[in-house]
Amino acid sequence: MEKKRILTGDRTTGRLHLGHYVGSLENRVRLQDEYDTFILLADIQALTTHFEKPDLVKESIYEVALDNLSVGLNPEKVTFVQQSQITAIAELTVFYSMLVSVNTLRHNPTIKTEIAQYGYDDITYGFLGYPVSQTADITFCNADLVPVGEDQVPHLELSRKIVRRFNALYTPDEAIIKEPQALLSSVPRLIGLDGNSKMGKSLGNAIYLTDSPDTVTMKIKSAITDANRISINDKGNPDICVVHMYHRVFNLDQQENISEMCRSAKIGCVACKKALSTQINILLEPIIEKRAYYTSNHQRVKEIINTGSEKANRIGNQMMGEIKSRMRLKI
Ligand code: TRP
Repeated sequence: MEKKRILTGDRTTGRLHLGHYVGSLENRVRLQDEYDTFILLADIQALTTHFEKPDLVKESIYEVALDNLSVGLNPEKVTFVQQSQITAIAELTVFYSMLVSVNTLRHNPTIKTEIAQYGYDDITYGFLGYPVSQTADITFCNADLVPVGEDQVPHLELSRKIVRRFNALYTPDEAIIKEPQALLSSVPRLIGLDGNSKMGKSLGNAIYLTDSPDTVTMKIKSAITDANRISINDKGNPDICVVHMYHRVFNLDQQENISEMCRSAKIGCVACKKALSTQINILLEPIIEKRAYYTSNHQRVKEIINTGSEKANRIGNQMMGEIKSRMRLKI
């Protein structure tokens, strides 16, 4: 039986962090054997918010590819795709844009949150429409499943609606585009070092996959703890402590013990943070090592992206032939 296809991706607006690692990268590594995996380097979607920073977006195409490679995605198995190189994505985005109302896009909860978060007072047509372009990302290669976090669910719902509409209109006898399904991550979102509900590139509260052991230690030293615990003799409350939430994710074996010691004031914040830094550095060490290998083989990384994109274009062009014919665009 043929493997089912997965497509997922990252916007190329900067390096990825531990939030991405626990929320999606780790899962991708686990899924790569079972599924035919496509990893999209979403440089066009990056432009929807970073169109004034073309150099950053370009640099990030490499960095995000390196992030994915360094955590263990195997370039022999997975296909890396540079979004802007795929003509089918551009074409499908235009075709799909006829099937979505502006109101639907404006009421998308994720778009609304992002507008508030970035403080936009004037949003662009491109930004408002990125869920449409994302539908093209997913369907140009007829992906079955899309591993994503909670915030992407409204987008996936829209994608399914667009596909349903497309098929009903142009291919009523036999659907040619699959309705993609979300594959939700089971891990709750990682909060930021500052206690913000989200670890984010633009929020300055992240630990990056490239952070050295010293940087990790320093960042964790600055993390928010239980504000009521002022002296080492005070009993702490791990339930409201950022550091403890990280222990629960990165230090499964010791987290219960540490929690008890915190509640009974047997461990102070300094030692607790040190134990966490150690665990995170153990996790990051092989990732940093693998990255160093790829960083010193720049040409190889470029080749991985280019060969993957060529393969994706072959698949996309074939799909577009069929789609244009069904849309009666072939004279
Ligand atoms: N919007 C996704 C994010 O911010 C990135 C992305 C772009 C994506 N295209 C995609 C994810 C297609 C899944 C499928 O994380």
